[in-house]
Amino acid sequence: MKTRAAILWEVGKDWSVEEIDLDPPSAGEVLVRLVGSGLCHSDEHLVTGDLPFALPIIGGHEGAGIVEEVGPGVQGLAPGDPVIFGFIPSCGRCPSCATGHENLCDLGMYLGVGRQISDQTARHHAHDTDLGLMCLLGTFAERTVVNEASCIKVDGGVPLDKACLLGCGVVTGWGSAVYAAGVTPGEDVAVVGIGGIGINAVQGARLAGAHRIFAIDPVPFKREQAMAFGATHTASSLEEAAAVIGEATLGRMANKVIMTMGLGQGELVGAALAVTAKRGRVVITNLHAATEMQVSMSPLDLTLMEKQVVGSLFGSANPRADIPKLLGLYAQGQLMLDELVTRTYRLDEINTGYEDMREGRNLRGVINF
Ligand SMILES: NC(=O)c1ccc[n+]([C@@H]2O[C@H](COP(=O)([O-])OP(=O)(O)OC[C@H]3O[C@@H](n4cnc5c(N)ncnc54)[C@H](O)[C@@H]3O)[C@@H](O)[C@H]2O)c1
Ligand SMILES: [Zn+2]
Ligand SMILES: [Zn+2]
Repeated sequence: MKTRAAILWEVGKDWSVEEIDLDPPSAGEVLVRLVGSGLCHSDEHLVTGDLPFALPIIGGHEGAGIVEEVGPGVQGLAPGDPVIFGFIPSCGRCPSCATGHENLCDLGMYLGVGRQISDQTARHHAHDTDLGLMCLLGTFAERTVVNEASCIKVDGGVPLDKACLLGCGVVTGWGSAVYAAGVTPGEDVAVVGIGGIGINAVQGARLAGAHRIFAIDPVPFKREQAMAFGATHTASSLEEAAAVIGEATLGRMANKVIMTMGLGQGELVGAALAVTAKRGRVVITNLHAATEMQVSMSPLDLTLMEKQVVGSLFGSANPRADIPKLLGLYAQGQLMLDELVTRTYRLDEINTGYEDMREGRNLRGVINF
């Protein structure tokens, strides 16, 4: 069938929205009509080349939609089912899945190639060329074909135009605070970078019972939004935060520091450690450029203060358990979801959406289909 998608043909170019050819779903695959797709910064890393995935590629990995057709052997999904995509597939059987770490499912090994999990071939084509899929999804498209391992079925009535954000930003940010940082009641938490990920780390910290939440971002709009989501203090840089956190905590600093900047910077990890308390933890959630090999920090600080630096992928969460869990908190009014969507765009406006992200105008921009 014909559908439309936003393709990145070359590093440094705009997203090109064009008609593509889409094959029917093969064994274990489903055809999904998209309802919403968030504009996460990770797709921007494809454009800058910081994340060197194979091109051309259909972008987008934070999506939700309705199943329209299922391939042979699909179990548990039928036409009409509402689904949210997990940006890492989960097979349920590999050692990571079996031990409660679906975010590290062995099927994640196919992400960089972007071809279908079943047979490593493409269902999406344009100009006689096979197209890759960001995170095996390609949610910047009116329709896509994905493996059922990437689909989490949700209840009818879930507002997919907003709940698409649970496919990445909400779970990643919330889980970075709740699981990776392990925030406990009464702790002081700093979140560095208030975008779609960081704002959810703020609300994760709030839901986990944090005492003080320091939101750090150079953009005034982001700092205002962070206060509305539960932050108690703000600063415009890590440097300024060192003074704010030091004063509020009588020099003890933040128990947990969560890094959610647009692009991680090795030279700022030491500054993050400097605002971290004894036995505190820095969580690196933001992606660094694939080519970056240097981090500047004081190893003596690690030893003498027993500090930790850890990474976190998809909030160290189990999407099949955590997406329904967070939808429950949303239904109960505890998780803010509607407020995350600052602006909506048509697929054709995707480059405007990313320009707004670069300029710091959105907590999240969302494509409505
Ligand atoms: N680990 C994961 O599983 C995972 C998942 C999704 C996204 N990410 C990564 O998380 C990061 C954030 O993504 P996003 O979509 O929220 O991005 P975003 O562009 O929406 O937000 C980034 C924010 O960081 C702020 N910022 C930039 N430099 C800063 C600095 N020096 N100090 C403080 N704040 C600064 C910007 O003003 C912006 O508000 C990206 O690197 C993205 O690729 C990681
Ligand atoms: Zn993302
Ligand atoms: Zn698995």
